[in-house]
Amino acid sequence: MDIARTPATPDGNPVMADAAIEPKAPPVIRREDYTPFPWLIPATRMEFELGLEKTRITTTLNVERNPDAAASPTIRLNGDGLALVSLACDGGSCDGHMIDGDDLVVTLPGDRHVLTIVTELDPSDNSQLMGLYASNGMLCTQCEAEGFRRITFFPDRPDVLSTYTVRMRGPRAQFPVLLCNGNRVATGEDGNSHWAEWHDPWPKPSYLFALVAGDLVARTDHFTTMGGREVELNVYVREGDLDRTEHAMESLKRSMQWDEEVFGREYDLDLFNIVAVSDFNMGAMENKGLNVFNTKYVLADPETATDGDYDGVEGVIGHEYFHNWSGNRVTCRDWFQLSLKEGFTVLRDQLFSADMGSEPVKRIEDVRVLRGVQFPEDSGPLAHPIRPDSYREISNFYTSTVYNKGAEVIRMMRTMAGAERFRRGTDLYFDRHDGEAATCEDFVAAIEAGTGLDLTQFRLWYAQAGTPKVAVTLAHEGDTARVKLTQTVPATPGQGDKHPMPIPLKLALFDRASGTHSGEQLVVLDKDSAEFTFDGFAQRPILSINRTFSAPVSIDRDVSREDLVFLAAKDDDPFARYEAMQELMTGHLVAAVSGEMDDGEREAARTDIAQAMRAVIEDDQLDDLMRGELMVMPGQTYVAEQLLVADPGRIHAEREALKADLGTRLAAQFEALYERTGKVPFSLDAQGKGARKVKTLVLAYAAASDPAKAAELAAHQYDGADNMTDRQGALMVLAGLDSAARTGKLLDFYNRYAGNALVIDKWFALQASSLHPHAIEHVKALREHPDFTLKNPNRVRSLYMAFAANPQAFHGADGEGYRMLADLILELDPINAQTAARFVPPLGRWQRIEEGRAKLMREALERIAKAPKLSRDTYEQVTRSLG
Ligand code: ARG
Ligand code: ZN
Repeated sequence: MDIARTPATPDGNPVMADAAIEPKAPPVIRREDYTPFPWLIPATRMEFELGLEKTRITTTLNVERNPDAAASPTIRLNGDGLALVSLACDGGSCDGHMIDGDDLVVTLPGDRHVLTIVTELDPSDNSQLMGLYASNGMLCTQCEAEGFRRITFFPDRPDVLSTYTVRMRGPRAQFPVLLCNGNRVATGEDGNSHWAEWHDPWPKPSYLFALVAGDLVARTDHFTTMGGREVELNVYVREGDLDRTEHAMESLKRSMQWDEEVFGREYDLDLFNIVAVSDFNMGAMENKGLNVFNTKYVLADPETATDGDYDGVEGVIGHEYFHNWSGNRVTCRDWFQLSLKEGFTVLRDQLFSADMGSEPVKRIEDVRVLRGVQFPEDSGPLAHPIRPDSYREISNFYTSTVYNKGAEVIRMMRTMAGAERFRRGTDLYFDRHDGEAATCEDFVAAIEAGTGLDLTQFRLWYAQAGTPKVAVTLAHEGDTARVKLTQTVPATPGQGDKHPMPIPLKLALFDRASGTHSGEQLVVLDKDSAEFTFDGFAQRPILSINRTFSAPVSIDRDVSREDLVFLAAKDDDPFARYEAMQELMTGHLVAAVSGEMDDGEREAARTDIAQAMRAVIEDDQLDDLMRGELMVMPGQTYVAEQLLVADPGRIHAEREALKADLGTRLAAQFEALYERTGKVPFSLDAQGKGARKVKTLVLAYAAASDPAKAAELAAHQYDGADNMTDRQGALMVLAGLDSAARTGKLLDFYNRYAGNALVIDKWFALQASSLHPHAIEHVKALREHPDFTLKNPNRVRSLYMAFAANPQAFHGADGEGYRMLADLILELDPINAQTAARFVPPLGRWQRIEEGRAKLMREALERIAKAPKLSRDTYEQVTRSLG
């Protein structure tokens, strides 16, 4: 459904605007309706009287007419569920004011006024975790996108920039640490309470405001910027967590250094604070000078964090730090421009992580996320361009499309320009727009001017949703090879007609005999169809295309298994090798579930896959991190995505069967690999990480081919583990098996880590995502576990996101999985709407799933839609998902 059209109930009747009932269909906000705000707020002063149950806020706004906007006799200050305690204009009473919905509208006769607003809230009652809330006895804030309006009345939009001075006061014993944006400029005591005054010299939009008060301890360090500024760095956590903050601090220092070297960006305050919070809706938040993080992306030590967790901390610390320029110094004009800061910042964090570790492995991981999460979004009812045209609830647009596809779109510009010219473009962008609220168009225009590229047609990537498909054929005649490329951009909700987009594809043609190529080329397909010719090939060459995944498209090529086996072994682009392995396996699985395969064909395909896998295992030029990537099977969602209509049960069965077959055929090779990698001692370098990755992969193959042996090995690995990666990997395998060790090790894990919330999250997730045939029953039981709570988003996600991604459990043919997810959404919606709405997309896949299940999925969605009261978040996602 085009979300811009009049909303309809699932039975097709329009939703009536009846004031007597809950206004169910929230208004649609459109990009084309943007107008500048009529007022400027040069200075904002806030005073907080802090209490967990009662916080009183006095906000003083200096307002003046915006010369660049149409004049207005009133100022609209957004609120969300706020009670106005008092309001004053220029120290006296106001000429007129009214409450309009949640907003406060004040009549302002002159050109400049001072407004004083008093609000009062109960942070302990804020389960939405937006605005000011209590978490574990501390107070913290989350304002992006529209949380500031839950603290005070304010023009809560990103193009209203103001300079903030904040005084906070509270009981010293309860809140020994008082933090806000910018610099601490004064402190004082008074009886049992104390106060701190903070001033942030950088004008900022309200979404970057942050405040923290609590009993916290810090790891402190320093960084000297390239311009000689001495910056104090702190990572604040709760008392017992201090020894798990080293990696976060090191990651921060590396981020600061890297942004200077690679993007020329220097930090601009004398203080940079990070605070870890255990109740948090998202990963982290880039508030100016005071980043607030989900504990998951701060705390790490070898005993409790996996290698993946370590990478996550480094990546998210980098991401939030990089926002200081791409987001804070240059912010967004409106929320339709979200990808301006998020797409760019994701690209920056990806390049950072690649530089800190293995570039090809990082690229493969990023592509896996894109294809596993963003491609399905782009082919489903929630598809939207990276710069959306409309929304009802902006929180629903913090999507993989805006973030990950947004990063890919900017990466393509960089690929076409080259890193050096791209840097000229970003320099120009920061130069032109420093201190401003900019648009995606501003970014593209700066890249164009800085690089010399003509991006006229390229702008379509911002406007058109849907993953382009590129059909590739290779013809050979005489000594000429002809590569014909044809693109189609699929229709998406609200966008029937698509135009061809410029698609930069890196390719190489391999000579069959020598196994080499004479250089990689970049071709740009900017029409529906184009042919590229290459001379000098006596024999038909082997085509390697979309190397490094140069464009976020799906490639549809007619390629023999023999050529894929060649590329998997010999391609000099590691991504292309990975791709060849994936294509070998995906091609086979798709053919197998499409029911067009006889035993002979199945045997031939499996033989080829095993041969390629064996070459990977035995290739001593490969490091184990990369070897692990080449050994990974394509995910269930990715395979399903290749089919117009998927049967999750059949895909699962075929995928497990292939895994078992490989495990059997390569038993000896896997065993030797396990033995070699088992001897690598623990370290956090590439060798150690690679060994751990490969070890658990071997266990996973063995679990399919020889469960008894796998259980024995896994139990042994579990007991001997001196790190979380090995322990969790072993337990994951055990959790999927009906073995004697299963219960014992699960219990041991729980007892060993009781009280450590992040590790107990793993314990929930392991069981919810397990291959065990009774996983759905385990999820039901875990829902009743005393450690389960709907109040903590990490815990909810650990159980239910893992469950929704477990094809066997979630997609059981009787629809019980769908009903359970609908129950969760209905129960969670009033508590935490933002988190509840994130569980809708798995149900929205119904159009791409076989009839029987599709009907049950729709029923689950319809039941949610019928609820008497729904949040804006869930309402929007459910109605769009019903199509
Ligand atoms: N800007 C944050 C980040 O990506 C995400 C905050 C999203 N918050 C939200 N309520 N949707 O770094
Ligand atoms: Zn971000």
